[in-house]
Amino acid sequence: MSLSIIILAAGQGTRMKSSLPKILHPLAGRALLEHVYIAASRFDTDGIHIVYGYGGEQILEQLSHLQVNWVEQAEQLGTGHAVAQAINDVPSVDDVLILYGDVPLITHETLDSLITASKDSGFSLLTSYIDDPRGYGRIIRDDKGDITSIVEEKDATEEQRSVCEINTGMMTVKAKWLKKWLTNLSNDNSQGEYYLTDVIKMAVDEGIVIESIKSESVVEIQGVNDRRQLSELERYYQMVQAHHLMNQGVTLMDPQRFDLRGDLEIGKDITIDINTIIEGSVSIGNNVNIGPNCHIKDADIGDNVSILPNCVIENAVIGKHCKIGPFARVRPGTRLAANVHIGNFVEIKKSEIGKGSKVNHLSYIGDSEVGKDTNIGAGTITCNYDGANKHKTTIGDNVFVGSDTQLIAPVNIGDNVTIGAGTTVTKDVEKDTLTVSRAEQKNIKGWKRPKK
Ligand code: UD1
Ligand code: CA
Repeated sequence: MSLSIIILAAGQGTRMKSSLPKILHPLAGRALLEHVYIAASRFDTDGIHIVYGYGGEQILEQLSHLQVNWVEQAEQLGTGHAVAQAINDVPSVDDVLILYGDVPLITHETLDSLITASKDSGFSLLTSYIDDPRGYGRIIRDDKGDITSIVEEKDATEEQRSVCEINTGMMTVKAKWLKKWLTNLSNDNSQGEYYLTDVIKMAVDEGIVIESIKSESVVEIQGVNDRRQLSELERYYQMVQAHHLMNQGVTLMDPQRFDLRGDLEIGKDITIDINTIIEGSVSIGNNVNIGPNCHIKDADIGDNVSILPNCVIENAVIGKHCKIGPFARVRPGTRLAANVHIGNFVEIKKSEIGKGSKVNHLSYIGDSEVGKDTNIGAGTITCNYDGANKHKTTIGDNVFVGSDTQLIAPVNIGDNVTIGAGTTVTKDVEKDTLTVSRAEQKNIKGWKRPKK
């Protein structure tokens, strides 16, 4: 039997109080809907269909990389109406798995059990027991324990409301049945909506047994309706990731003060101090130490690197044995070879720094190429921007750049050049040369400072 998946994601999410559609809000750096998509895409399917509505343009733009059939539900008339928009795109012979775009932590394993449970009867529901079932549809069973219907909270009697078994909304059902039942739904209920849950009763009337499985954990069926729930799931998910990393041998000084918003590839013996955020796609080699309060995004960190406190590194490659920080900013397009030192209050942008070179204090190096074993003194600035265009600075091997030097780009400095402190370099300097531009020093003996 082949499988199709429909993800419902058309709702606005009023309680988020946001101009961003709810399903685009990030959890661990990924849109809520993308989490559901990732769980869904691990199945071999005939297709994944996403029913979208509110914020459509934003959704299609931000999630254009998903391999799905986007189905628009122009007006949100209920979950049954939503599934009806997509069902004609599903082959009649398929089983359909229905998911919600705002229930991000559903696991592949639970969904796999749900699909398996539908194999005999053709219909299975994912239910859960929760202490406070308010707001959920209740699962109604007969004396034998068979499911007979789902009643929405707003339509339920007092007795039905006391039932703690709830509908998670996720189900597997035969497409050919849905195609028939969905055309017979009515919106004659307290919310005036076409309820998907009304198909339960239709199935039972046809003698179909509804199988059910219970979710392993409450978090995996938890929907996000407001920012508080979003933050609860975020903290839960971060803890799961932290445990996973620690199980793989990473030392986290405090797992509650570590955030991973993306994918992290790791070597052995990595220590990460508190309040560090890893974002996007990051790889970290062996024996790496990362100090507190660092933000590392889309970067490759080599073996034996030491990142001292309070560094920001983005879209950069850090070679082996480099030492970065404290308080360094390594900006996009930077490649540091092995054994490079980048010290405090140094900003490096779109530059390559050769093996063993050092930029230890208070400098800006942008659009530059620096050779190996070069020392760049404190307060060196590559003046790469003329107000309109960016220009390149090239510095050779074994160069000594004195403190407080300005390099007016475009400019080239040859190998073994020495630049005297305080120099403004406006012309290229050939190799093995000393260059210095400095107003002559005057000493006026016995000089008296003015008095008040
Ligand atoms: C639904 C179920 C309820 C279940 C609960 C679990 C129905 C009638 N009720 O209730 O039994 O306990 O989920 O959270 O199915 N959506 C659309 N288009 C629409 C309406 C909804 O795409 O026209 C999407 C929403 O974006 C959301 C999901 O369907 O992802 C559920 O909608 P929601 O309004 O939250 O359903 P509930 O009323 O909470
Ligand atoms: Ca809901």
